[in-house]
Amino acid sequence: MGTTLQTIFQEYKGILAADERPSSMDKRLESRGIEPSAEMRSRYRHMLFSTPNLERTISGVILSEDTFADHSIEGVPTRDYLKHMGIAVGVKVDEGLEPYNGSDVLSITTGLETLDKKCAQYAKEGAAFTKWRAVIPVTGVEDAFLAAMASNMATYAQTVLKHNLVPIVEPEVLLKGTNTIDEVAAALERTLEAVVHALRDINCNPHQCILKTSFAATGLDNEPLSADTVAERTLAVFKKIGLDSDKGFYGIVFLSGGLSSETAISYIQRIRAIAEQRGTEFSFGPPLTFSYGRALQDPALTAWDGKDENAYTAQIAFTQTLQHAIKKYKGTEDIPLAGNGKRGVA
Ligand code: G3H
Repeated sequence: MGTTLQTIFQEYKGILAADERPSSMDKRLESRGIEPSAEMRSRYRHMLFSTPNLERTISGVILSEDTFADHSIEGVPTRDYLKHMGIAVGVKVDEGLEPYNGSDVLSITTGLETLDKKCAQYAKEGAAFTKWRAVIPVTGVEDAFLAAMASNMATYAQTVLKHNLVPIVEPEVLLKGTNTIDEVAAALERTLEAVVHALRDINCNPHQCILKTSFAATGLDNEPLSADTVAERTLAVFKKIGLDSDKGFYGIVFLSGGLSSETAISYIQRIRAIAEQRGTEFSFGPPLTFSYGRALQDPALTAWDGKDENAYTAQIAFTQTLQHAIKKYKGTEDIPLAGNGKRGVA
């Protein structure tokens, strides 16, 4: 387990989230006019995972259960293909969401009943880590819901640790609508506090787990803020609840949550840079990196466009995105990134 944590948090590397369920992946294909089918999902992932030098920037890949079980690259199971490159393989083990107490807005993660058995199997088949996602709206959330969500997540982490797999806990605070950064930061703080509390409550050490979190940013329909503002606010939330020391999580990774690739990358570049300025108000102990899905894949998926003849161009786009994501931005002004200019700049 210790080795997995060290493998994942190698400097200048991050996690690729490629754990979309078939239905979500089909929607992404369809939205670009690509035929949604098992065949196209497989071709796309083949292109992505066989990108030359992937292991130079990616230390871990999260797969969906179907990809982990079935998908092969040139006759080799994808999980082995990635492992041979020195990449840690993870599986998203939750079974999705169901309404919480009949609510229309709140939902709870399912899959605890089958988790123990699944983990035994996945550990045998070479998985190194797992992921479990909960979703938390920014407003209208009662303490009782947060406690139930956090307890569900802590039970997941405890079960996974029994099998010597590293648990990624992902309580995703949804960056939807016009929420302000104050509202998002407050929701993030409450959410993360509840998760840490629930883990400790059952004697599950957060330091054996990885936190996957949203940024303290504005909702996707609100005015975008600078990378400096988001980075400082996010680190301030973590510090407030003691996640900046080794009493917190071993490491923290971020989801992109619908932010554009440019914006999500600008945020992680800045967070990594300011967290490493020792002796400053934002200096941070545990390692921080990305675990993006859309923000890493979107440029490659667009370039691929469902055509094998575009694979090389798509792999170049993917590599450029990854190289961008591992850089730290040490300046104080906004990062000069190309893009639609919609987010990430004040
Ligand atoms: O659960 C969410 C994924 O692991 C990360 O996806 O970066 O596209 O939000 P995202």
